Amino acid sequence: LKKITKGKHDKGIRLYDPGYLNTAPVRSSISCTDGDEGTLRYRGYPIEELAESSTFLEVAYLLIYGNLPSQSQLADWEYAVSQHSAVPQGLLDIIQAMPQDAHPSCAFVSAMSALSLFYPDANPSHMGQDVYKSKQVRDKQIFRILGQAPIIAAATFLKTAGKPHVLPSSNLSYAENVLYMLHSLGNRSYKPNPRLARVLDVIFILLAEHEMNCSTAAARHLASSGVDVYTAITGAIGALCGPLHGGAIENVPKMLSEIGTIENIPDFIECVKNKKKKLSGFGHRIYKNYDPRERVIRRLADEVFSIVGKDPLFQVAVALEKAALSDEYFVKRKLYPNVDFYSGLVYRAIGVPPQFTAIPRMVGYLAHWLESLDDPDTKIMRPQQVKMERVNARLVVLSAHL
Ligand code: ACO
Repeated sequence: LKKITKGKHDKGIRLYDPGYLNTAPVRSSISCTDGDEGTLRYRGYPIEELAESSTFLEVAYLLIYGNLPSQSQLADWEYAVSQHSAVPQGLLDIIQAMPQDAHPSCAFVSAMSALSLFYPDANPSHMGQDVYKSKQVRDKQIFRILGQAPIIAAATFLKTAGKPHVLPSSNLSYAENVLYMLHSLGNRSYKPNPRLARVLDVIFILLAEHEMNCSTAAARHLASSGVDVYTAITGAIGALCGPLHGGAIENVPKMLSEIGTIENIPDFIECVKNKKKKLSGFGHRIYKNYDPRERVIRRLADEVFSIVGKDPLFQVAVALEKAALSDEYFVKRKLYPNVDFYSGLVYRAIGVPPQFTAIPRMVGYLAHWLESLDDPDTKIMRPQQVKMERVNARLVVLSAHL
């Protein structure tokens, strides 16, 4: 395209593609969506199947290494992740020094970025560009990130909630430990509800990977410069916090609280149609049909509320979904509930703060990081811009000749 020019000053064709609607900067085999059919597969497996019969760490292995693990591979993998879960004391001190009124998501992003301070052995600027050629070095960073991220998320959340830091328990599963760190207040005999832990595990499976979404694209963009993996991951979770992306999970319960009761839904829908408000948890760049993850989470919501008791906002959410799906505005634009519509309420019901949505996403970011390291086509990402300034400059030259 660079060679198709209209004259010697023309630098060739550029595609002006705001939001990258039609631009694919990478080829990837990690996950695959079909937005019209409303399907999502991880390494060829439909997510419904994985949600039914796998665990989160098993799916993490699948996404990162390309195949489902054997029983012994899974045991080794789980062991390696838990063996690398000790958060450096210096990082726990940094978390303790954070302002208590910080937003927990900002505290989490900052703490994750600080991991790079403690692991210079994984920094290409320190060790040289070849450092990630070693499988051992790559694996070590993967174990550290997956092992430590939930503990860091819990520590930053507890800090901003004014509660004491709680270390994980070695007898519990990955999801059980999240519930344990958040709710035990350090009481070693606290036992997380196994059904709620399984719900969290399934949500983690559903959120682990989603092609080149905004945050994954950020991870690959950063990684393309050769930066250390902690910095690439931090950029991604920073992008995830935005209200148009993973931040929607926090906004949905707020929006439902503002609506308050089913009677107020028609007025709210009018505001949305007049562009005064957005319906959080609705719409998706890829899915112009149901988001397949939402269907699974909707079923999980029924289970969770049967355990913890009814949430009146859940009834508002169900009625809001029904009202939107029968309204011309949403039908015409193919706006359906996305993964965040019910998961915000489910997270709230099981007592898991919204920023934990970043934990499973680490898996997808890491899988993409590895894929980019091994892809011979990987180049530093450097999009073009349409050069408005040059057009103006030409006009000035022309008028001077006149
Ligand atoms: N509420 C009201 N109108 C909406 C919504 C919504 N949630 N989503 C899209 N629309 C409208 C737009 O205003 C636009 O209308 P127009 O044609 O009259 O201008 C039309 O639908 C197309 O929307 P776009 O913004 O062009 O769609 P895009 O693919 O760029 O955006 C996005 C997708 C960001 C997810 C959008 O649907 C949105 O803002 N949703 C609400 C936030 C949300 O739930 N985000 C989570 C997404 S899932 C995830 O990241 C984990």
